Amino acid sequence: MRVVAFSGSPNMENGNTALILRPFLDGLIDGGAAVELFHTRKLDIQPCQGDFNCWRKIPGHCFQQDDMQMVHTKLRASDVWVMATPVYVWGVAGPLKNLMDRLMPLIEPFITLRDGHCSHPLRAGTPAAKLVLVSSCGFWEMDNFDPLLLQMRTLARTVGLDFAGALLRPHAPAFRMMLEANAPVRDVLDAAHAAGQQLATTGAISPETLHAISRPVVPMDEFRHFFNEQFRQELDHLDKDMVHA
Ligand SMILES: Cc1cc2nc3c(=O)[nH]c(=O)nc-3n(C[C@H](O)[C@H](O)[C@H](O)COP(=O)(O)O)c2cc1C
Repeated sequence: MRVVAFSGSPNMENGNTALILRPFLDGLIDGGAAVELFHTRKLDIQPCQGDFNCWRKIPGHCFQQDDMQMVHTKLRASDVWVMATPVYVWGVAGPLKNLMDRLMPLIEPFITLRDGHCSHPLRAGTPAAKLVLVSSCGFWEMDNFDPLLLQMRTLARTVGLDFAGALLRPHAPAFRMMLEANAPVRDVLDAAHAAGQQLATTGAISPETLHAISRPVVPMDEFRHFFNEQFRQELDHLDKDMVHA
């Protein structure tokens, strides 16, 4: 199994998204998959120019010469596409969205019906891969992933990718702090690792494993009070520093 992963987290390996992405990719490797990870922050990916030249003038190609040519090659050669992103304004972080917009050359302009719904199939030469979403968000509730999840599921359905699941970590900054404080939350990392191993060895991730990755690690009221207090203290310090400056 060949896996290509793209992370749109500007914090790359040090981010909250990477807390889940890293063990997931390690699990895939331990399960025998060949894995490549790219950070959009290190790639040159210009926004789509919206001219449809990749459908009308040079079918299957984009006239913009940047890292998307390499991305297309990697995607065409992979069995699993992993899209990793922090939730930004309830959606995909901008640089990863640019990459997703530039997938247009990989799909046909012709509209076919899939389950009675209009869709654009993948072009010949882009095998139907599995799509996995990995994401983290700041707020406590799982419904903060709803718009992002809907977007990824719709993308998969429309072009004929097999949506293999979403590894979602809510209240991720709190999760990070608890990890650093050695609170008993490492089971979440173990679940992310298990998700990778399951995907590599069975082709699927169990709902129980996905559930374990997203489990609440702190009650909502505690989460809210803790962060409000932390910000209050931080901003008080800032005010004092400014008075002394
Ligand atoms: C510009 C911006 C927008 C954000 N929007 C949301 C949001 O809509 N909902 C949410 O729950 N968290 C939101 N967050 C919080 C991040 O999703 C969260 O901190 C995430 O874990 C960061 O991941 P990273 O460390 O990999 O960058 C936002 C953060 C930033 C910087």
